[in-house]
Amino acid sequence: MSEAGSSPSSDRFLRACRREPVDRTPVWFMRQSGRYLPEYRRLRGSGDILEMCRTPELAVEATLLPLRRMDVDAAILFSDIMVPIASMGVDVEIQPGLGPVVADPVRSSSDVRELRARAADLDVSPVLAAITLLRKELAVPLIGFAGAPFTLASYLIEGGSSRTFETTKSFMHGEPAAWDELMRTLGEVVSLHLHRQVEAGAQAVQLFDSWVGTLDPDDYARFVLPTMRTLVGGMAGLDAPVIHFGVGTGELLTLMRDAGSEVMGVDWRVPLHEAWERVGFDVAIQGNLDPAVCVAPWDAVEAKALAVLRRAGGRDGHIFNLGHGVRPGTPVENLQRLVDLVHERTLRGANAPAESR
Ligand code: CP3
Repeated sequence: MSEAGSSPSSDRFLRACRREPVDRTPVWFMRQSGRYLPEYRRLRGSGDILEMCRTPELAVEATLLPLRRMDVDAAILFSDIMVPIASMGVDVEIQPGLGPVVADPVRSSSDVRELRARAADLDVSPVLAAITLLRKELAVPLIGFAGAPFTLASYLIEGGSSRTFETTKSFMHGEPAAWDELMRTLGEVVSLHLHRQVEAGAQAVQLFDSWVGTLDPDDYARFVLPTMRTLVGGMAGLDAPVIHFGVGTGELLTLMRDAGSEVMGVDWRVPLHEAWERVGFDVAIQGNLDPAVCVAPWDAVEAKALAVLRRAGGRDGHIFNLGHGVRPGTPVENLQRLVDLVHERTLRGANAPAESR
């Protein structure tokens, strides 16, 4: 499968999160379990994906599939950002090709109060059961995750995916007090969900604020950052690094960094060294190969991956990843070769081949 010496490591990923020296740069992929894997499509069948997430044996198997194919240095729990929301009794389904669809969107302060009342019903026990099972199987660290409050709020308010987030922004500016209450509520739900995942055995957690890049810096600072500060600050006592990720967040990075996580995840639109300069070299960075490039012929993938590594400059605290999730049309072989390439070209120390020093 991979060449000798490119094996995954049990501590490379966590060490890089803490910006400690590593033998090779760690690598994993957002959405490393997904439709690009034929065995995932077989396991998934045509059932409901939320149901799959709520069935620990299936979630465990889906988490393990990519690890049998390539030497990634971390596993990410198979679940979905809408799992905690659904567990509160919110009517949400995930439609193939569309994403989450919420039957009764949150559009008023009384809707927010209703959601707040439902928060007491949060029950993520199947997720925790999957984590417990996984820790017995895994040789690499397990990453837990949650959707960040803004991204969850956008699905709850829009009722589904959006390009412009008009309804979300209209609610945010039109009813700021209700918005604040919604963010406070989601912040508490997410905090509880992350704490429970870590208690169950997750060794790091990633906050997916996938759609927050739609905001300008003023609105991010006023309507999102306070909740993120409280949320990330509340994780400080846990021995699990927090990765804070968003798409299209180049102009928000300095503000996002203020939320306080140990690792910032960045997409491909900002060259890695510029992103790292913006957040400061006193945090670790994760990214940032364009996932669409991974669908292209290998030579292109290789060239773009080497550019990311060049920009990382061999500094401690780089975790190689894509700038967003693996695309369904990605050839498995491209990712397998990518893992080996990153490991081979970043070998540190006396035994490193001349060209990688
Ligand atoms: O391997 C992994 O990364 C772990 C599994 C994972 C899933 N969802 C399973 C899933 C993770 C980390 C997520 C997070 C998630 N879910 C996010 C944040 C990450 C991101 O991509 O920005 C978001 C926005 C969602 C909401 C969601 N769920 C969307 C937009 C979709 C895609 C709908 C589609 O068909 O294209 C889903 C469905 C989903 N969740 C899939 C997977 C593997 C797609 C495949 C399937 O339907 O089986």
